[in-house]
Amino acid sequence: MQDMNRDDSLLVRRILRVNHAGEHAAVSIYGAQIACCRFIAPELRPWLRETQSHEIRHRARFLEAMTARNGRPCRATFLWAWSGSLLGFVTSLAGRFGIMVCTAAVERTVHQHLVEQIEYLAPRDPEVAELIAEIQLEEDDHLAYADARHDPDSLASRADAAWIALSTEILIWLSTHGDSSRVHRELAAMKRN
Ligand SMILES: [Fe+2]
Ligand SMILES: [Fe+2]
Repeated sequence: MQDMNRDDSLLVRRILRVNHAGEHAAVSIYGAQIACCRFIAPELRPWLRETQSHEIRHRARFLEAMTARNGRPCRATFLWAWSGSLLGFVTSLAGRFGIMVCTAAVERTVHQHLVEQIEYLAPRDPEVAELIAEIQLEEDDHLAYADARHDPDSLASRADAAWIALSTEILIWLSTHGDSSRVHRELAAMKRN
């Protein structure tokens, strides 16, 4: 870890907190989908179980990196668990299509955040940048799997993906007390300068 000024180290902790909270929601989303799949799409269960195990590992790795930098998890992790379970359950009602649209929308939203974060962190905290880049590879696999199993350009997919992505962003924003948009603004400002 390199020497960083106070603002940078605060932002690194915020990024880790947002990501840790996001992984917490992902674990809950996949958990709800695994439960619902038992009846509506049992063939998806092995993949969902394996994917959930990735999200559990991601969550642990973000927590470890955050703790090493004196950061603390988001206080509203219960909100993430509830909301993630609700989102996983509601989208599962639309069967295999709903599950794939939900997975793709959430993973696509995550992907956009991770790309920005890696760019910001590479010169400041290469260890965290590398961690995020490693995790991003698995997130991209999740997205590719879901995209290959539905038509992301259909009207129904786009409509559902829009509200799921918006819900995900609102949840991230609320539970991090606006940190997610501050992170986005600060990263955008750094790129301009
Ligand atoms: Fe993840
Ligand atoms: Fe994922």
